[in-house]
Amino acid sequence: MKTYLFSPGPVMVEEPVRQSLMHYDICHRSPEFEELFVGIQDKILRLFEADDSYYSVVVSGSGTSANETCLSTVFKDGDEALLLNNGEFGNRLFEILSKYHVPTTNMEFGWGNLPNLDEVENVLCNNDKITFVCMVFHETSTGMINPVYEVGKLAKKYGKRLFVDCVSAAAGEHIDVVKNNIDLCTSVGGKCLGAYPGSAYICGKEELMASLTPEMGKNVYLNLAKHYQMAKKNHQTPNTPNVNLFWPLDKALDMVMEEGLSHYIDRHAACAKILRDGMKEMGLKFLLPEEQMSNTVTSVFLPEGKNVAQFVAEMGDAGYTVYPGKGKYLEMNMFQVANMGAIDSKDCKKFLEVLKAHI
Ligand SMILES: Cc1ncc(COP(=O)(O)O)c(C=O)c1O
Repeated sequence: MKTYLFSPGPVMVEEPVRQSLMHYDICHRSPEFEELFVGIQDKILRLFEADDSYYSVVVSGSGTSANETCLSTVFKDGDEALLLNNGEFGNRLFEILSKYHVPTTNMEFGWGNLPNLDEVENVLCNNDKITFVCMVFHETSTGMINPVYEVGKLAKKYGKRLFVDCVSAAAGEHIDVVKNNIDLCTSVGGKCLGAYPGSAYICGKEELMASLTPEMGKNVYLNLAKHYQMAKKNHQTPNTPNVNLFWPLDKALDMVMEEGLSHYIDRHAACAKILRDGMKEMGLKFLLPEEQMSNTVTSVFLPEGKNVAQFVAEMGDAGYTVYPGKGKYLEMNMFQVANMGAIDSKDCKKFLEVLKAHI
């Protein structure tokens, strides 16, 4: 049975993206692959609204693999990180930094709370060893958009680099790496872009990537220096990539570019509004004020007395995948509705009808 994925990845893909999987097989050490790869690199830069001081690479793996590729490579001995953490995916960045033994000031603001920028500035101006500020653009566990622009300004003021996990934000929000002063960021095909999971990508300042050496990397495969050097020299990836997923990644990027990035983002924002207006009409309460919400994830509480696990199962039986809340929000009967990828306004209206029947 076709299930409508109103969950934050994997997402439903447009038919041309699915069809592109049928492409004949090619070798990753061939001119045809190199041409495909270079085209994708260019489109990734456009997705992040980058200028020509940026460079991009593709990592065959999930969003975490892109984050791990960056965070296991960019720190030298003695360097430290400042992490702004307000949810599950902030925690995930902390797990990665800890695993690679990067001394980290983990500023926990609490799930659903915006970072306190005065406190952030206070840490930045008192710690010379911090080389990178790390944060999540769209904290998917709550649906909150973090203040990347403001943090970018602070990072610049204090001469720090900025790493941003844009896994659930790219193609759903304007990332604008130049305006936001982002040095390095990540995402993956199987979220807002509407491609498949397993095709992660990284965009960053080229001077930063060029300054890295393979020896700085604490991981053999997830090594940003190796990915950069191989891409730059040979237009290839260091290891055998998921070649077949490069076609749908390319097709999804093409479709966004043909539609226009702003139009694509606005269309998703309009779908979120349909969903939110409908849920408000049903009397459901949101976790966040609407101005803090992303264009693609809505965190919402079930009415008193309903069981979230049972509700999620019932929605699944009706053909709609939604997510139970994470962390403490699960106990508070929260669930999440996402409108990433190939979901249109008609789908959203149908979703609301089904939701109404199950709350
Ligand atoms: C903000 C954010 N970062 C990282 C991840 C991890 O991505 P993956 O599950 O593809 O490794 C996710 C997954 O939803 C996410 O939303």
